[in-house]
Amino acid sequence: MPTALITGANRGIGYEFARQYSADGWKIHAGTRSLQNNPLLDELDQSLISIHQLDIDDHAQIRALSEKLVGEPIDLLINNAGMCIDDDEYYGNFSDEQWMQQFRTHLFGSMAMCEAFVENIANSNLKTIINISSGNGCFGIDRGKGLFPYDSSKSALNTITKGMSVDLKDKGITVVSLTPGFVATDMGGQDADLTPEESITGMRHVIAGLDQSKTGSFIRHNGVVLPW
Ligand SMILES: NC(=O)c1ccc[n+]([C@@H]2O[C@H](COP(=O)([O-])OP(=O)(O)OC[C@H]3O[C@@H](n4cnc5c(N)ncnc54)[C@H](OP(=O)(O)O)[C@@H]3O)[C@@H](O)[C@H]2O)c1
Repeated sequence: MPTALITGANRGIGYEFARQYSADGWKIHAGTRSLQNNPLLDELDQSLISIHQLDIDDHAQIRALSEKLVGEPIDLLINNAGMCIDDDEYYGNFSDEQWMQQFRTHLFGSMAMCEAFVENIANSNLKTIINISSGNGCFGIDRGKGLFPYDSSKSALNTITKGMSVDLKDKGITVVSLTPGFVATDMGGQDADLTPEESITGMRHVIAGLDQSKTGSFIRHNGVVLPW
């Protein structure tokens, strides 16, 4: 069975990926910032789940995990961990630190994950990296008012998806940005359009259909390809 490494796997979208893939028999390396309190992960089949301390802002933790997993093939890396610090972060209404924090996690942390685990992924069967982006990171569609720190950090994440799709082609690795839709999690709120189950079922269908011809794409949970 394949193996997935998922960041921010203790709740929300990351947890639902862990739940669905483990239900299908996948081995899951679940990253969480706290090892103390993971009631959802604790309910999953523990023979398939390894829970790891992983704050992706802390590159020493990323290095420690990559040393622990050296030589182990990882079919699918899902860079999911993220936040929207304040849903009021419109023009003129955010701090440098708010901006910096979202770049630290969405961009620097995701890039460090890709660099740390690239050999594990290259040595697997599926060889896939998924960056969980957002429609907010898209330039090519009409959209509402800007949440400047969040939106630009997701656009930056899309930039590294595109860059790695070229740089990692020789290793046979497929790199794609996926947007989950508007999902009812702590971030999305309970009035969102989709349940986590619906969104992740859709994204898993997209992931199952990926191959090298689709590397460097930006795709919605329902399979619609987005402009950058
Ligand atoms: N929900 C939506 O409608 C929506 C739409 C578009 C994109 N997204 C993206 O989907 C991803 C997941 O969002 P969600 O809705 O599941 O949000 P969520 O319910 O708020 O969960 C966020 C997860 O990310 C983790 N996290 C945050 N910073 C981290 C860090 N530095 N290192 C490791 N883990 C970290 C959190 O850990 P803690 O529990 O420790 O805080 C939590 O597990 C995010 O990248 C988000 O931008 C969501």
